Amino acid sequence: MALSSSSSFAIIALSLFLVLSSEPSSACTLHENFYHKICPKLFPIARSVVKSVVSKEPVLGAGLLRLFFHDCFVNGCDASILLDDTSTFTGEKTAGPNNGSVRGYEVIDEIKSRVDAVCPGVVSCADIVYVAARDSVVLLGGPNWDVKLGRRDSKTANKSHAENALPSFSSNLSILISKFKAQGLSAQDMVALSGGHTIGQARCPTFTARVYNDTNIDPSFAKAKQNLCPLTNTPTNFVANLDVTTPNYFDNGYFKNLLKKKGLLHSDQALFSGSSTDSLVRTYALNKRAFYHDFVNGMIRMGEIKPLLYPNGEIRENCRRVNYKPL
Ligand code: HEM
Ligand SMILES: *[C@@H]1O[C@H](CO)[C@@H](O)[C@H](O)[C@H]1NC(C)=O
Ligand SMILES: *[C@@H]1O[C@H](CO)[C@@H](O)[C@H](O)[C@H]1NC(C)=O
Ligand SMILES: *[C@@H]1O[C@H](CO)[C@@H](O)[C@H](O)[C@H]1NC(C)=O
Ligand SMILES: *[C@@H]1O[C@H](CO)[C@@H](O)[C@H](O)[C@H]1NC(C)=O
Repeated sequence: MALSSSSSFAIIALSLFLVLSSEPSSACTLHENFYHKICPKLFPIARSVVKSVVSKEPVLGAGLLRLFFHDCFVNGCDASILLDDTSTFTGEKTAGPNNGSVRGYEVIDEIKSRVDAVCPGVVSCADIVYVAARDSVVLLGGPNWDVKLGRRDSKTANKSHAENALPSFSSNLSILISKFKAQGLSAQDMVALSGGHTIGQARCPTFTARVYNDTNIDPSFAKAKQNLCPLTNTPTNFVANLDVTTPNYFDNGYFKNLLKKKGLLHSDQALFSGSSTDSLVRTYALNKRAFYHDFVNGMIRMGEIKPLLYPNGEIRENCRRVNYKPL
């Protein structure tokens, strides 16, 4: 009797193991195949929405890449950045680094509604943010990679955390390194990921002090940017490309600019200012493939900061608010 009950226990345990291990939606790790059975359409839908947006307005591709970064640095990539303020709740959208600056929210809404039309309630907003960022990089001529998915959406956001965790345009190299280190990312990840500034734009308040006051800056570049940002009646919109040479092409132009002291932000030029990261900047400026390789690894690691996994979090119905729960 003892023998047969222990062998039937073994059979039950084995079949339980088989059932659990073949169920992708309950897997508690991020996985490249996470949506292959439950929503394979996610990929063509996201790609076509991002493609049509980027072909009309390339800067929105930059916006989507930055959206992912600013989501991931605040309690992991959990779509916390997408939550709108309500009368009882203040989210991350109005945090200093995001307010009036992060763009592309409507693109995420558009992908979510098209995806939910074919596979309702299974794809997280957090995963959509990552896929949209990856697709933006690809569509602007950058590297492609498989993204690991299965993140869940947060039920909360933290404005002060966004203000503390995100680096500033005025940060020096040691601050930049320590803010990335606090997320489990290395100095090399930080330099490679800063290559995200090979696309997109900035507003005057983020680079005025640099172009008027910094010393490690090319004089004619500084003058041209001063003209864009006069000290009286300074424009508040996006006026300058972060990559002065190829702003809509995801290449290694950003690093080539740094060698010529043409980094737009103080924090950009800090990576090449007689410092410990100079040689890495030189490597990426000379070798686009090395940059692509390390950028992709950085994006993979950034995507895995504190992953919010089942049974935690939720799949939001509307990316801008947490799901309604009747009392
Ligand atoms: C290393 C520290 C970083 C700092 C201090 C920083 C700071 C900034 C600032 C100040 C802007 C301009 C915002 C404005 O003027 O409103 C900007 C834009 C941008 N950042 Fe960063 N950033 C950093 C890292 C990153 C990373 C890791 C990525 C992505 C991998 C990224 C992607 C972008 C993109 C694509 C834009 C242009 C956005 C647009 O045109 O809408 N940045 N960043
Ligand atoms: C966000 O920016 C708008 C203008 O762009 C400004 O009116 C508002 O006060 C800012 N909010 C915060 C919390 O800084
Ligand atoms: C929000 O983030 C700050 C750190 O920046 C932390 O002190 C605070 O406890 C967080 N709030 C919540 C509710 O988690
Ligand atoms: C970097 O900036 C921080 C904060 O502003 C400052 O305390 C620190 O001394 C600076 N480090 C260097 C090496 O300049
Ligand atoms: C340049 O630096 C001086 C001295 O610190 C400061 O008074 C001035 O406001 C700065 N100018 C800009 C445009 O940041």
